[in-house]
Amino acid sequence: MALAAAFVALAGLATLFATPGASRAAGEFTDQFLNDPAVIETGKAVWNKRCKFCHGKTAYPGKAPRLDPSRYNPEFVFDRVTNGFKGMPSLKGEFNEDQRRAVTAYIMSGEFSN
Ligand code: HEC
Repeated sequence: MALAAAFVALAGLATLFATPGASRAAGEFTDQFLNDPAVIETGKAVWNKRCKFCHGKTAYPGKAPRLDPSRYNPEFVFDRVTNGFKGMPSLKGEFNEDQRRAVTAYIMSGEFSN
C-alpha cells in the first residue's frame, strides 16, 4: 500500500518536471511570438542599433544585401544572426537569444522596413 502511494507520488513528480521542458520547445517561432508588439519593439531597437548600419537604406552601397523577408522564414533569419555567414557577422556574443529572436520577429513583421 505504502509502495503504491510512493509510485503515484513519483509519477506525479515526473510529470511535474517533464511538463515545463516539453511546453517550451526551444527556438520555436509561434504566430503568437512573431506578432507580439513588445517583442517587435525590442527587435526594432536591435535593428536600429546594429543591423541598419550594414543593411539599412542609408548604409554604404554594397556593404550588405537589402533584406527581403518575403524570401525568408524565421529560422533562416535567426540562424544568420546567430551564426553569421560570409560577410555577415555572428552576433551571438552581442545579443542574447531573446534579442536575436526579437529582431527576427521584427524583420518578419509587417512593420519592418529597411
Ligand atoms: C558588418 C555588417 C553587417 C551587420 C552589422 C549585419 N549584417 Fe546581416 N549581412 C551582412 C552581409 C555582408 C550579408 C551577406 C552575407 C552573404 O550571404 O554573403 C548579410 C546577410 C544577412 C542575412 C541574409 C540575407 C539574404 O538574403 O541571404 C540576414 C537575414 C541578415 N544579414 C540579418 C542581419 C540582422 C538581423 C542584423 C542585426 C542583428 C545584421 N544582419 C547585421 C552584413 C551585416
